[in-house]
Amino acid sequence: MFRGHRGYNKNVNRKKAFEMKLIAFGVRKDEEPYFKNWEQQNDVKIKLVPDLLSEENIDLIKGYDGIIGLQTTPYKREYFEKMKDAGIKILSIRNIGIDNIDLDAAKDNQIPITNVPAYSPSAIAEFTITQIMQLIRHTKIFNEKMSHQDYRWEPNISRQINQMTVGVAGTGRIGRAVINLLNGLGTKIIAFDPYHNPELEKRGMYVDSMEAMYRKADVITLHMPATKDNYHLLDAAAFSQMKDGVMIINTARGTLIDSEALIKALDSGKVGGAALDTYEHELPIFDHDLTGQKIDDPIFNNLNERNNVLITPHIAFYTTEAVKNMVEVALNCATTYLNDGKMTNPVVEID
Ligand code: NAD
Ligand code: COI
Repeated sequence: MFRGHRGYNKNVNRKKAFEMKLIAFGVRKDEEPYFKNWEQQNDVKIKLVPDLLSEENIDLIKGYDGIIGLQTTPYKREYFEKMKDAGIKILSIRNIGIDNIDLDAAKDNQIPITNVPAYSPSAIAEFTITQIMQLIRHTKIFNEKMSHQDYRWEPNISRQINQMTVGVAGTGRIGRAVINLLNGLGTKIIAFDPYHNPELEKRGMYVDSMEAMYRKADVITLHMPATKDNYHLLDAAAFSQMKDGVMIINTARGTLIDSEALIKALDSGKVGGAALDTYEHELPIFDHDLTGQKIDDPIFNNLNERNNVLITPHIAFYTTEAVKNMVEVALNCATTYLNDGKMTNPVVEID
């Protein structure tokens, strides 16, 4: 429960009472118009830094009240120590996942954190369906064949999604948006989540365990946060319980899958294909221009070279609708806190 925090202004008379200063890290060109527009409408100054928050630039936070972040690289303990020293009052992240944040360090240093939990579940859900369909219809294989003028059909005949069972692991905002889209495709849907959604429960969609899902699903799609309890949830033991030729979709977090075990399961044919928008060692690769460079990651290269593995660089979220919401909601979370002491979308609250 929030009870107060050093430095926020209780007297709501915003701009006049408290000239707040915000600094935003990792700001891309496509986000800038949303920042500028919000800045004008709210008469609040925001320093835009293109680079992610890191050891190299953390000292830029001096003199600011709040940080607007977005990154999958770690928010380390020493960052929170520096935030405390610099008098930072709030870290407002403009994304969902919090697995890269040292939450204890934030608490220890009295830095409250907010996130944007629902910037667009549809963005990730639509991408998930895209990848399921591409895997089932062998688009990578056909694109490769056609690139050297092989227009034959055989042997790459497809199954139909309306004849398949899709297992949705995690029925939060994104998992439910995926289920809504799958409903229109005539697919049999089964779901697992330790917390049942009443609507899905009524429809009898839940199985009792991931193991039950492994036994029944032709496609398994992951939509849960990464935590210390689900590290390598899909490992050799999990793959061995799945149907032969199962397809795996991961738009959640890379650490949910043991990539080496996945390679073995692809080799044996136990797994028939995988679509990975997140990968456990993605940080040095995704969202970097590595054109012409050799990627020094044999596991990544092994997966990427397969014609039944689709790798994308963590782009499920990347739509105009989502990006606009990420920027605007994160800025509103920060200013609401700085003006009124109210936590919108709390991740870490300070007593
Ligand atoms: P959410 O909090 O609304 O839902 C997560 C659900 O997972 C909850 O219902 C929870 O009970 C369930 N869950 C937790 N542990 C589980 C387990 N071991 N097995 C089954 N279910 C479990 O979150 P969301 O908005 O649906 O987002 C899910 C995740 O998607 C985020 O945490 C983030 O890591 C990832 N994400 C990825 C992208 C991308 O661009 N690829 C974008 C946004 C979010
Ligand atoms: C998230 O919102 O958690 C994502 O995975 C998106 C990414 C830009 C950090």
